[in-house]
Amino acid sequence: MDSADFYSELALLDWQVDLGATEAICDAPVNRYDLPDVMEKPKPAVSAAPVAAPLVAQSVDPVAVSTQAAQSARTLDDLRAAMANYDHCALKKGARNMVFADGIPGARVMLVGEAPGRDEDRAGKPFVGAAGQLLDKMLAAINMGRDRADAPVYITNVLPWRPPQNRDPKPDEIAMMKPFLLRHIELAAPEVLVVVGNWSCQTLLGKRGITRLRGEWTQAAGLPALPMFHPAYLLRSPEFKREAWADLLSLQARLREGTTP
Ligand code: URA
Repeated sequence: MDSADFYSELALLDWQVDLGATEAICDAPVNRYDLPDVMEKPKPAVSAAPVAAPLVAQSVDPVAVSTQAAQSARTLDDLRAAMANYDHCALKKGARNMVFADGIPGARVMLVGEAPGRDEDRAGKPFVGAAGQLLDKMLAAINMGRDRADAPVYITNVLPWRPPQNRDPKPDEIAMMKPFLLRHIELAAPEVLVVVGNWSCQTLLGKRGITRLRGEWTQAAGLPALPMFHPAYLLRSPEFKREAWADLLSLQARLREGTTP
């Protein structure tokens, strides 16, 4: 199957799941009781060659591999390449594009989201869908933005590949991609982190419960970090925009006063 077929099949499947399909059945009914109950036994393969000893699969520790690859990256370009070459995360197979980052590296603020959704997967950029548009408005409200040379923000996600049907990330996926995120933060060298949503808090702070965590400055990856509501959550629950606004003002004040803890 070529990749165009693969993506159209995947999109069809996606659509059916969105419509509520929960199982795959054939066009024609099959009566399994009709199948012959005596199946022909497969004939043993005849081979003249001596049987080789079975190969013992070497078990690979995906976290050790990502840690090594991340630590070897000297620049953001190295890191992007190392992530693109990393084959231990199953999400990579179902994704159209890897979503690395957007905005200006070296910005004082680095925002860490959760994982790409459908729009980001297509565009290969973080936060370009509806949640991303709200995020841009929120940043603009404090005169910041991913493309603003005078007050830039650098944006990435915990996971660079879209989880199918936007399902929650699995603990092993987070564990294997976290070394890349930590190196990403080191190489981008922001002054502060903004950690949006529960999965990002889980990854960087080791805690969930964004309603309690939000607005309280803490430390993550050795930097001052501000947990905030995820913009996708604010789209669903706009009554929490007031809290998000308070958090944006707190970010602005922190940047004005400098970031020494
Ligand atoms: N939600 C995220 O957490 N990240 C994105 O890039 C898009 C939506």
